[in-house]
Amino acid sequence: MAEIITAKSAGFCFGVKRAVDTVYEEVERGGPIYTYGPIIHNEEVVGDLERRGVKVLDSIEQAAGITSGTIITRSHGISREEDEKLAATGARCVDATCPFVKRIHKIVEESSADGYEIIIIGNPVHPEVKGIMGWSHVPVTVIENREQAAAFVEADDGRSPEEAAQRKICIVSQTTFNANKFEEIVAILSKKGYNVRCMNTICNATHERQAEARAIAAKADIMIVIGGKSSSNSYKLYEICRKECANTHFIQTWRDLNLSPAGNEQIIGITAGASTPKNIIEEVQNHVRADF
Ligand code: F3S
Repeated sequence: MAEIITAKSAGFCFGVKRAVDTVYEEVERGGPIYTYGPIIHNEEVVGDLERRGVKVLDSIEQAAGITSGTIITRSHGISREEDEKLAATGARCVDATCPFVKRIHKIVEESSADGYEIIIIGNPVHPEVKGIMGWSHVPVTVIENREQAAAFVEADDGRSPEEAAQRKICIVSQTTFNANKFEEIVAILSKKGYNVRCMNTICNATHERQAEARAIAAKADIMIVIGGKSSSNSYKLYEICRKECANTHFIQTWRDLNLSPAGNEQIIGITAGASTPKNIIEEVQNHVRADF
């Protein structure tokens, strides 16, 4: 019988679990419940909530029309403007922003009030980054790669070192950004001698999930990664695992399992992306156990 190793860090991170739990708790309390955007990128969870009467609000305009009930925000947060608009509706607002993201909002809000320019290292179209931008009192620069960092510094070539030292810049990061890339970008920005306040706000959850997946895949005969088709963090996990274990499978639910056991497998590894609920992981585990 093969040993099945499921990663401890598989599935929801702390912030996503907290947000999803919040919605289920509010469902228990009753009353019309809305989430501002889908609470998580997982069709099964959103479908289940829908059956329990939870409606998804797709825009702030739609939210503005709500006169009663409860509106819950997502773990990756919203801008100050959206926050204020939700507070002005007739509904009770429950903020399920992950505390790690909330901390970034606070840094950006306070630093920009303190005369710092704000640089966010991250993906400018990601909702988390858009939300963070919305807490700054000054326009924000979003930098995603080394080239953009170099262009930012070059645009400043006319400035003397003394003048550069006067420029106050606060750097924060999208929580899911790659730590090495973050360091490289910060190094480029720091060369100029600005007065830099650098806050590494990367969350460990992603790194831990990837490191554990890599370690399990390295010793597994078969590796299974569970995640949504369009979930980029799940696909990234798949790529990491495939490098270590050629026999890696990317599935959405146990129904996609298509393993043909050779009979001599000793270790089957399982991990899952950040938006995969526990019950889906357990179902896969149970089916794999039946096969090996
Ligand atoms: Fe929060 Fe980290 Fe998850 S910032 S939402 S615990 S990835």
